Amino acid sequence: MPTHRSPPTTIAAMQFPHLTRAHLPALLARMPKAELHIHIEGSLEPELIFELARKNGVALAYPSVEALRAAYAFTDLQSFLDLYYAGASVLIDESDFYAMAMAYFARAHADRVVHAELFFDPQTHTERGVPMGAVIGGLARACADAHTQFGISASLILCFLRHMSEASAIETLQAALPYRQHFIGVGLDSGERGNPPEKFATVFAQCRALGLHGVAHAGEEGPPAYITSALDVLQVERIDHGVRCSEDPALVARLAASRMPLTVCPLSNTKLCVFGTMAEHNLATLLHAGLCITLNSDDPAYFGGYLLANFEAAFAALPTLTVQDAWQLARNSFEASFASTAQKAAWMAELDAVFAST
Ligand code: HPA
Ligand code: ZN
Repeated sequence: MPTHRSPPTTIAAMQFPHLTRAHLPALLARMPKAELHIHIEGSLEPELIFELARKNGVALAYPSVEALRAAYAFTDLQSFLDLYYAGASVLIDESDFYAMAMAYFARAHADRVVHAELFFDPQTHTERGVPMGAVIGGLARACADAHTQFGISASLILCFLRHMSEASAIETLQAALPYRQHFIGVGLDSGERGNPPEKFATVFAQCRALGLHGVAHAGEEGPPAYITSALDVLQVERIDHGVRCSEDPALVARLAASRMPLTVCPLSNTKLCVFGTMAEHNLATLLHAGLCITLNSDDPAYFGGYLLANFEAAFAALPTLTVQDAWQLARNSFEASFASTAQKAAWMAELDAVFAST
């Protein structure tokens, strides 16, 4: 797999003496950004869940939008996943997947997202008898329309559910191959504890041979050893979450030296009790240690905010984050993306122009 990473950018690469923390609200809103960790099924708002349930005749366990939203009080990853998979059960035909993704793109556009790499979970749908073509067809059509309607460059990453078997993942990959041109990579998500990356060594090797990019959730609830095995066994190019790396200083040093991106999701981490409060989040420490940290929304409909809200919450709670850090986080999002080198350079120039003109 060719490396997609540009050379490391040092914190001193660009200075903004004319800007202070008072400029942050405008900068965070105006700066172009990429979103690299968004489960598209996690963008399904309760209103759309109810609309699709009515349309498709799917019964829901909650009587109203308000009752469903009130149930969004999570204690850990699994308590969220139970509701997330139930919510996704209203998605039946191609137009449902299209509608869900277009609603996300409209919202992302308002947050100045110019590039998005969307995770989707085909097993959640094919297990219910939904054809793979309806899932990928609807999402791919939305990605194309995101470009024409919003100027957003969008691509798809197919995720395997790690609580299921590797045989099921291999079957899923085979079922998706007729649609190979519509996705750029594969990921690994769902319940992390007891499901280490090495469980999926064979299917990730098959994906690498097909020229697919590889990413994996690791070190969200699972131990730092899962981050190491995602790198060494699955040979992934980004780690999703990865925040528990801080328990292993040698791993932190490795991640910094290699500029291995961590797609961090601040609101998700506090809603799922990975950190007790946002003030305790380690993203500023990791960023200042030279890691390629990016900010992302994970499952915005469930965790209380889209990408800009994640930036705002992190900057409000972490006083060591500076204007320089806002620029670095946005720049990292492009550096860590799977876009072309020329496209990355164009977005980075746009980013610099926003900081110069604010
Ligand atoms: N972690 C693991 N699996 C997921 C998540 C997450 O945050 N969101 C959706 N599936
Ligand atoms: Zn995730």
